[in-house]
Amino acid sequence: MRKPIIAGNWKMFKTRDEALGFIYNVNMNVPSSEYVDSVVCAQAPILRDLVKRQGDNLKVGAQNMHYLDTGAYTGEVSAPLLENIGVSYVVLGHSERRAYYNETDNEVNKKIHQAFRYGITPILCVGESLELRESGKTNDFIKGQVVVALKGLGSEQIKELVIAYEPIWAIGTGKTATAEMANDTIKEIRNVVRELFDNESAEAMRIQYGGSVKPANVDELLSMSDIDGALVGGASLDPESFLILVNAAVKK
Ligand code: PGA
Repeated sequence: MRKPIIAGNWKMFKTRDEALGFIYNVNMNVPSSEYVDSVVCAQAPILRDLVKRQGDNLKVGAQNMHYLDTGAYTGEVSAPLLENIGVSYVVLGHSERRAYYNETDNEVNKKIHQAFRYGITPILCVGESLELRESGKTNDFIKGQVVVALKGLGSEQIKELVIAYEPIWAIGTGKTATAEMANDTIKEIRNVVRELFDNESAEAMRIQYGGSVKPANVDELLSMSDIDGALVGGASLDPESFLILVNAAVKK
């Protein structure tokens, strides 16, 4: 049995006041982490404030991180700092970072290794464009992303890793992959991991769906066999909506 994980990806939204307001609203009401892992991934300058107030059942994640410990990399955030301030998760290889900041699979691979070195759980994002989906190349493309991103990892790390399958055409567009489509692609991802590592690790690893997840469609998505949670942008910004999503995962 895989424990569901719901992660809010706030992207470049929320000031400090807004983020703290959210935390005051939700942290007492988040369901027990015995049943669901609940996470919010925020902009770097607010992470420490959120960690201090996260409570027992909510965890805090970053949205990106460099793969080196230190160096002359203006504007970057390091894993030692994230570890130091108590951040639990980091989103890596989000399609927006791949598209706007040219992040490659090789860099994402180095970042995943770095996250594990510092005890931060990586949420690796993969997903195809509409063009790839329509030309029937989704599985080959995603296999390519997964093979490179997971290079050099061990089975124990695979069991801890979280993958978020996010079709690019479904992010922020209101278009959701059908639950069957999302589940089929997620099964394929699990098969790739099974081939690369072993059955036990592939079965233990959690794979989320992401792309226009909201209270109205979360139950159907989470009812699928291989969908272990969701990475949620827009619908994670509002406390009430976030709580509906994490509570939906308790029923899984
Ligand atoms: P969305 O974003 O839920 O707003 O579609 C998902 C994501 O980018 O992780």
